[in-house]
Amino acid sequence: MSEIVQFLKERRSVIVKNLLPVPVPQSDIDDIIACGLRVPDHGVLGPWHITIIDGKAGAHLGKTILRPEFARIHADATDTMLAFEENRLCRTSLVLAVMSKAAPHAKIPAWEMHLSAGAVCQNIVTAALSLGYGAQWVTEWYSYNDAMLEALGGNTDTDQMAGFIYIGQPAEPPKPRRRPEYDDVVSTYTV
Ligand SMILES: Cc1cc2nc3c(=O)[nH]c(=O)nc-3n(C[C@H](O)[C@H](O)[C@H](O)COP(=O)(O)O)c2cc1C
Repeated sequence: MSEIVQFLKERRSVIVKNLLPVPVPQSDIDDIIACGLRVPDHGVLGPWHITIIDGKAGAHLGKTILRPEFARIHADATDTMLAFEENRLCRTSLVLAVMSKAAPHAKIPAWEMHLSAGAVCQNIVTAALSLGYGAQWVTEWYSYNDAMLEALGGNTDTDQMAGFIYIGQPAEPPKPRRRPEYDDVVSTYTV
């Protein structure tokens, strides 16, 4: 079995709670993003955008978007809850936010552009894991928040967050996760 297939069969995300913030060298960030950009993309539209969020940017988004938006949506939120929300993007020192920019196109359906954005996210996760980092692709509530989308340069008419990928150092090896049974999700079309 090739090393890549072996890796893909065994790879496992590390949940954000188990990620420690560690400095990620620029060369690793560049490599991870280069892998993210190398995905199937019908018509070479590049219908996505990646925003690099470091600790300082995460703190700013926490103060200007996460905390006030959470407070607006949850009028009964306690100070502890608001402090947690404000800190969300600072749980690791590197977060890559992937936006799907599926503008109307004469031939290519928006669905295909969203799928391509998903591929960007998965390639980023895979690249980060292969470099020895822990990573997790999450959407949480703020992927569906218009203020966050606009803060990251998105247009609420056409764009959607595909997810936020947290990258850090695993605090512990991830526990095994139940996977779908092959026979439950795979069949052979027979005639
Ligand atoms: C689009 C998308 C959004 C997700 N959002 C969340 C989330 O908000 N919170 C969460 O705990 N896991 C979320 N997950 C699940 C994790 O990214 C991941 O699938 C899970 O931890 C197992 O990953 P693994 O198969 O790489 O081990 C999401 C997955 C996808 C594909």
